[in-house]
Amino acid sequence: MPREMTADTTLTIQGIEIPKLGFGTWQLSGDDCVVGVRDAIELGYRHIDTARAYGNEAQVGQGLHDSGRNRDEIFLTTKLWYTELSAVGVHDQIEQSLRDLRTEYIDLLLIHWPSRRVALAETLGAMVEAREAGRVRHLGVSNFPSALMREALEHAPLICDQVEYHPYLAQPQVLELARERDLMVTAYSPLAQGDALRDPVIGAIAEAHGKSASQVVLRWLLDQPQVAAVPKAASHEHRAANLDVFDFELSDEERGRIAGLERGHRTIDPGWAPDWD
Ligand SMILES: NC(=O)c1ccc[n+]([C@@H]2O[C@H](COP(=O)([O-])OP(=O)(O)OC[C@H]3O[C@@H](n4cnc5c(N)ncnc54)[C@H](OP(=O)(O)O)[C@@H]3O)[C@@H](O)[C@H]2O)c1
Repeated sequence: MPREMTADTTLTIQGIEIPKLGFGTWQLSGDDCVVGVRDAIELGYRHIDTARAYGNEAQVGQGLHDSGRNRDEIFLTTKLWYTELSAVGVHDQIEQSLRDLRTEYIDLLLIHWPSRRVALAETLGAMVEAREAGRVRHLGVSNFPSALMREALEHAPLICDQVEYHPYLAQPQVLELARERDLMVTAYSPLAQGDALRDPVIGAIAEAHGKSASQVVLRWLLDQPQVAAVPKAASHEHRAANLDVFDFELSDEERGRIAGLERGHRTIDPGWAPDWD
């Protein structure tokens, strides 16, 4: 049975209700992606994360269609690739995304990475126009350190910064700004691409609760104000496990032990990355 959204599973950001737990689709392609998205929705996921750069928007769109769910039941995020952030590039990318995703609107459109070439005002201006035209509901960014996020907020009403966030990489400045301005921080690579699942501290906490390491990490993230997470899982079992995180409670002491694992470990740091916080 699909789960309905509850206070446990929903974030309210600037008055907008967003399912806290999303399904990440990076590195899912072909039928694995179509079936994965359909299966995720059947399991109860109501938030899907993709990007132009993942090359799988058509498969995500097919999976959404196959799920038989109404479009307005799903919160769908996609991202503009950073090499095409001129006003024309933004417009063209949005039209391609809408076509591939087989949808009339995108719930949340993000700038995937900041550009060193195109002014933020131009990119965000084009995104605001798309929002006014009803092609996009909400705007945000990804991989923006806090100072750049502050600058971006001067140009457009943004609701999200999607950044790498897991027990090995804290994001204190981005989180502080999110609390100040009521923004969503979407944790990408929330399991540190699997690295955090082999951690003995997390393993011990998981054992104490009769849960798995991934469930402990996701619960730790989702208990935090302003935080959503988009784990990726190629198998049905992992997708189901990652959704089943709302039936246990971590103690303050356990949360502290998990936070204490921070070691500045970044799994995604390409040559075009900005200067991080
Ligand atoms: N904005 C950005 O620049 C950016 C960058 C990176 C990622 N993202 C988004 O974040 C999403 C997630 O990040 P990610 O894919 O890098 O890493 P992740 O979600 O931290 O980790 C995925 C890895 O964890 C494994 N896993 C998942 N659930 C598991 C479970 N219950 N038990 C054991 N292993 C499990 C997966 O294995 P299986 O697949 O075999 O299940 C996969 O190897 C992406 O799909 C994408 O949507 C965004």
